[in-house]
Amino acid sequence: DTVRVFCPATIANISCGFDVLGLCLDAVGDEMIIKKVDRPGVVITKITGQDLPLETEKNVAGVAALAMLNALKSDAGFEIEIHKGIKAGSGIGSSAASAAGAVFGINKLLNEPFTKAELVAFAAEGEKIASGVAHADNVAPALLGGFTLVRSCDPLDVIAIPVPDELMAVVIHPQIEVRTEDSRAVLKENIPLKKAIVQWGNVGALVAALYSNDYELLSRSLHDEIVEPHRSILIPGFDKLKKAALKAGALGCGISGSGPSIFALTKGETNAKEVASAMKNAYADFDIQHDIHISKIN
Ligand code: HSE
Repeated sequence: DTVRVFCPATIANISCGFDVLGLCLDAVGDEMIIKKVDRPGVVITKITGQDLPLETEKNVAGVAALAMLNALKSDAGFEIEIHKGIKAGSGIGSSAASAAGAVFGINKLLNEPFTKAELVAFAAEGEKIASGVAHADNVAPALLGGFTLVRSCDPLDVIAIPVPDELMAVVIHPQIEVRTEDSRAVLKENIPLKKAIVQWGNVGALVAALYSNDYELLSRSLHDEIVEPHRSILIPGFDKLKKAALKAGALGCGISGSGPSIFALTKGETNAKEVASAMKNAYADFDIQHDIHISKIN
């Protein structure tokens, strides 16, 4: 009674969709081993790769698992091992991967009492302890795959959106720490109507582009008038990287989640490689360690 779960990294926001859009990467993630045991409750037995709390109530995976078991009024017991491939605070959904992996694996071991869409709410409970607010824009794509749109968090209403076949993501992770809390604190409470109009025009067009495989429309929609201008100042070299990615033919480029990772979307793998190498070159002048991944969106 053991399952091994791949817990994918995710990109939230995707330029114009702050707190609502997300996508799932298939090349980066954690692994979790979950075992059903006789003793009721959830015990986290081991974490490798990152220094994170083992206490169930302080760990996003533990909190998400308990939320699910409470909803079921279940006295089943589970032991969880977490092997982190995603660095905490990197902006590619580290906590979401753990929260989503825990509820996905436990659901499997219980013969799937919940649909994947229903699991999003429990995973979001786990996310809450990592960032203070229950966002679903990382946990939704981690569980459902592909692109997702969170229309509402309360009540939860998540829509899975099709992904054009050739769409790829390039993610560069500069190894500096940007805490989600800090990168939310730089945002303005109010936005001028003019900017809001541009933003919702882009969000609607981005979704339409995904449904119609229209890469040019997708490219025109990948802009963010509201969040990126404030957050990008926390990421050294952001403007230079973005320019390099777009010059190399990326459809768009922006901050992944709350940063510091930066993503670019491309049409096809050849262009993804060109964009990755342009971003790497652009970052050569900065004395900041970084890694780059190219991934399908699945
Ligand atoms: N949408 C959230 C943000 C994701 O950008 O703050 C952070 O995990």
